[in-house]
Amino acid sequence: MKNIYTNIYTFNKKIVKKTINSLNQGNIISLPTETVYGLAGNAYSKKAINKIFKLKKRPIKNPLIIHYHSMKNAYEDVVFNENFFKLYRKFCPGPITFVLKKKEKSKIHNLATANLNTVAIRFPNHKMIRSILKIVNFPLAMPSANISSNLSPVSAFDVFDEFKKKLDIIIDGGQSRIGIESTVVDLTSTPRILRPGIISSKEIRENLKINLSRKRSNIKSPGMMKKHYYPGIPVVLGSRPINPKDAYIVFGKKYRNKENYFNLSKRSDLKEAASKLYKVMRTIKKKGFKKIFVSKIPNYGIGIAINDRIKRSAK
Ligand code: TXA
Ligand code: MG
Repeated sequence: MKNIYTNIYTFNKKIVKKTINSLNQGNIISLPTETVYGLAGNAYSKKAINKIFKLKKRPIKNPLIIHYHSMKNAYEDVVFNENFFKLYRKFCPGPITFVLKKKEKSKIHNLATANLNTVAIRFPNHKMIRSILKIVNFPLAMPSANISSNLSPVSAFDVFDEFKKKLDIIIDGGQSRIGIESTVVDLTSTPRILRPGIISSKEIRENLKINLSRKRSNIKSPGMMKKHYYPGIPVVLGSRPINPKDAYIVFGKKYRNKENYFNLSKRSDLKEAASKLYKVMRTIKKKGFKKIFVSKIPNYGIGIAINDRIKRSAK
C-alpha cells in the first residue's frame, strides 16, 4: 500500500534543519508536546500568525499561547511577578500556561494576542520541541493542531487527520504523554484558573499558599464557544447505551469488556484516563459508532479537567 503520510517525519538532525528553515520563513509546522500536538509559527511574524488562524479556522478573538525554551527568553515580552516565579520553579518546563501582562516593547504580534494587553506563555516539556525552541530566535505561537472546535490531536497521525497535506512538516514524537491541554492560570491579578488541566488548582494553591480567585473569566476563550472538543459524533452524558452501535466510555474495574465499551482506566487512575480521553474518542469515531455515551468520572483533581473537556464535547 502506498504511504500517504509523506509529511510525517521522525526526529533527526536533517528534519530539525528543515523545520528551522521553515519556521524562519514564516511557515507553519506541527510539533509534539507533552500535552497535545501544536501548530507552531514565529510569534513575531504577522505572516505566520495569519496562517495559523487561517489553517485552524480559528476566530481571531481567541488568543494563542506563546511557547519559550526558558524564563530568560520570555523576559522581553511579559512582566514577571512573584506568583509566576513560584509556579515556574515548581512546574516548568511542564503542562502549565501563565497569563501575564504584555510588555510595551514586546515583539509578539498583536494578532497572536487578539489585541489584548496580556500574553499566555508556556514552557513545554518535550525534548523535540525544546531542542527547536533552543535554536530559533523567536518564541513559537502554538495552538493545538486541530481545526477550531475539534478534538486536540495526541499523535502525528491525529494531526494528519486534521490537516492532511496542508502542512509540510509534522514531527512524530509518539503519543502525547499527558493527552489533554495545559492548565491555564491567569496571574495578572489574584491567580485564577481559566482552563483546568493535569496540574490541579489544589497543587497551584498549595504552591502559592493563597486562595485562588473564583471569579468567572470575561476573556473570550474556547471555553465560551458553544462547540468545542467535538469528536464528530454526539456525546451523551449520564446514561448508558442500549444500541450496540453506540459506544460507551467508562472508568474503573466494575465494567466488563464489551465490543462497544472503552475503559479510560481499569485501575481508576485519573492521570491514565486523561491521557486516553481524546485518543479513545477519535478511535470510537473511526470505528463507525454513532454516538458516545460517557459514564461518571470522579470530579476531583485531574477529574475536574477530564469532566470539563467531556462536558464541552457534549454541547
Ligand atoms: O497544552 C497546550 O496548552 C497546547 C499545546 C500545543 O501547548 N496548546 C493549546 O493552545 O491548548 P490553544 O490555542 O488550543 O488554547 C489556548 C488557550 C485558549 O483557551 C485561549 O483562549 C487561552 O489559552 N489564552 C491565550 N491567550 C490568552 C490570554 N492572553 N488571556 C487569557 N486566555 C488566553
Ligand atoms: Mg485548542
